[in-house]
Amino acid sequence: MKVIEVSHARGSYPVYVGQGLLGMASILERHLHGRILAVSDEHVAKLYLDRLRPTLARRAHQRHLVLPAGEEHKTVASWQRIVDELVKLRAQRDATVLALGGGVIGDMAGFAAACYMRGIEVVQLPTTLLAQVDASVGGKTGVNHVEGKNLIGAFHQPSAVIADTDTLTTLDPRDYRAGLAEVVKYGAIRDPDFFTWLESHAEALNARVPSSLMEAVFQSVRNKAEVVAADELEAGQRAMLNFGHTFGHALETATAYREYRHGEAVAIGMNLATRLSELLGLCESGTASRMSVLLERLGLPTRLPAGTDPDRLLNLMRLDKKNRADQIRLILLDGIGQARILPCPADDIREVLNS
Ligand SMILES: NC(=O)c1ccc[n+]([C@@H]2O[C@H](COP(=O)([O-])OP(=O)(O)OC[C@H]3O[C@@H](n4cnc5c(N)ncnc54)[C@H](O)[C@@H]3O)[C@@H](O)[C@H]2O)c1
Repeated sequence: MKVIEVSHARGSYPVYVGQGLLGMASILERHLHGRILAVSDEHVAKLYLDRLRPTLARRAHQRHLVLPAGEEHKTVASWQRIVDELVKLRAQRDATVLALGGGVIGDMAGFAAACYMRGIEVVQLPTTLLAQVDASVGGKTGVNHVEGKNLIGAFHQPSAVIADTDTLTTLDPRDYRAGLAEVVKYGAIRDPDFFTWLESHAEALNARVPSSLMEAVFQSVRNKAEVVAADELEAGQRAMLNFGHTFGHALETATAYREYRHGEAVAIGMNLATRLSELLGLCESGTASRMSVLLERLGLPTRLPAGTDPDRLLNLMRLDKKNRADQIRLILLDGIGQARILPCPADDIREVLNS
């Protein structure tokens, strides 16, 4: 097991990364206070809720809530059900919410913890690769509104994150690969050694070799922790984490969120952003091919689907939050492991979208 301490304005919290951690009562017990509400979804509860039962059974006051799985249930209505359970539990300010599941459960349970009595503790127990390397660390919580993803939310730091990498073996292959895109992102934007490590461990990662899974999660969390510690409220550096996301979000919107997992769209976006970086002469030639080869070896898509309308994507990219004064601002690479944010001419973006 490895532990990364993530600092924020009011203190810090540990992220434990290792095999079999959900079954290690001693770690979980360290972070349980007051009455306990465990929140999970129907898939994860079947697979992993039993691992928490011995620990929960020792508590005088505890309940669990199993919500339907899926992004379409990341709603105010589900959030309300979590709050209702806390009320039924007669939870007080010292209570703890346990969020057992992927990013959907983590975000919703975290947001309920942020709001209940103006803030109680949440321990994140992420069970997807995306949740372990990204969603559970950094304190962003929230739910969707019909008009937009994550439109309602709050910053609320967890009191601990326990990432049991054994849970990744039961993930659907597409969900697993989508998480790998975010792993590649950390190497691409700030950690060239990690990128090289990924190149030499692609097959081990595809086979989900336990030691490689643990190392990939650990290095990703270490990178994310360093970024969020430097920029807790997303004022500057944290924008680098959006590498590939402006293209990716436009593609997700253009395909009505039906064709691609978020990570798959980000993989295509990272490839486009690297090609654009090369086109603009920011990085040496060969960088884009390094990127696409690694993504493809990890089973991720790198090309826009046939028939994509570049102007439609360009228009969607104009709506991105990073833009200022009508210019499209993108995270681009000076090389593998070195990112920066730059305004980009629409014609250059169109050229990459067309090629
Ligand atoms: N808070 C943040 O900083 C942040 C960052 C990135 C993404 N997110 C959010 O995360 C969400 C996506 O997260 P996700 O990809 O984990 O989706 P998810 O939570 O919907 O999980 C994907 C699927 O995998 C199932 N599952 C979870 N763990 C499993 C396991 N170990 N074995 C088998 N099946 C398992 C789930 O039931 C679900 O069907 C989005 O809502 C996104 O907005 C938040």
